[in-house]
Amino acid sequence: MRLSGKRALVIGGGGGGIGRATTEALGNEGASVLVADLDPDRAAAAAAAVRSAGGTAYPVSGDVRSAADVDAMIAAAVQRLGGLDVLVTVVGGQVAFVPAVKLHEMADEDWDTIYEVNLRYVARAVRAALRVFLDQGTGGTIVSVGSVTGFMAAPEQAAYGVMKAGLLSLARTVAAEYARDGIRMNIAAAGAIATAVANAGDGTEVVEEIPVGRLGRSEEVAQAVVYLGSDAAAYVTGQQLVLDGGVSVRGPFQ
Ligand SMILES: NC(=O)c1ccc[n+]([C@@H]2O[C@H](COP(=O)([O-])OP(=O)(O)OC[C@H]3O[C@@H](n4cnc5c(N)ncnc54)[C@H](O)[C@@H]3O)[C@@H](O)[C@H]2O)c1
Repeated sequence: MRLSGKRALVIGGGGGGIGRATTEALGNEGASVLVADLDPDRAAAAAAAVRSAGGTAYPVSGDVRSAADVDAMIAAAVQRLGGLDVLVTVVGGQVAFVPAVKLHEMADEDWDTIYEVNLRYVARAVRAALRVFLDQGTGGTIVSVGSVTGFMAAPEQAAYGVMKAGLLSLARTVAAEYARDGIRMNIAAAGAIATAVANAGDGTEVVEEIPVGRLGRSEEVAQAVVYLGSDAAAYVTGQQLVLDGGVSVRGPFQ
């Protein structure tokens, strides 16, 4: 139980593919979890899964695009769990929110949407969590689910890549400013993971490009989140752990 006694908030998307697996993994490792999702049924189902495995979890619904909701979800975690030790941010993407188009065709409002659902809320949640961690005086950890698009070009998803790159910048700043307070932030950067979103195009066309030869599993990203959120990673901060089956290290050779 790597997170025994820890209090964790999975903010946004806690009931989705990677978020659901993360919520369950945190619960299985002994953390008490507040799981937040836009869809109350998904949040409830994720919390129920943790409880049926013998863990402790509560659902909450909220929209990460709303600043008030983000603040309320952090406050709810503190109130419900009696404090906060681990913040996990999950929601993100491009094609689930706006059309994929080349950069010169991208509309202002779509750029703003991608900022709102990938980066703006993370910065707000991190700021709120930092205040809680500093008040508690017991440190804390933050893990954000990122993407290889943060460091590899994603054609027709420029805004998504820019926002995911921003997560690592945020983690580096948290590392530099708060390490002495016992606060760490890292990124779990996923490649192609078999979730509803990735499977919209069923994923088979990308498998050939993946050295491991398959899509990743949400549980594999969840395990990285658990590691980065736990004391096993006490000397790791401002980093991103890449979970991509080798995609980003493969050259264009046979
Ligand atoms: N699936 C992949 O291949 C892949 C690859 C790299 C990175 N990622 C990243 O993983 C994260 C999760 O992706 P996923 O594929 O598990 O997504 P998903 O679509 O399976 O789940 C998304 C969840 O977020 C919730 N949600 C949507 N909008 C919300 C909002 N405004 N406020 C709160 N909750 C909201 C949905 O209800 C859903 O439960 C994202 O950050 C994504 O960028 C995914």
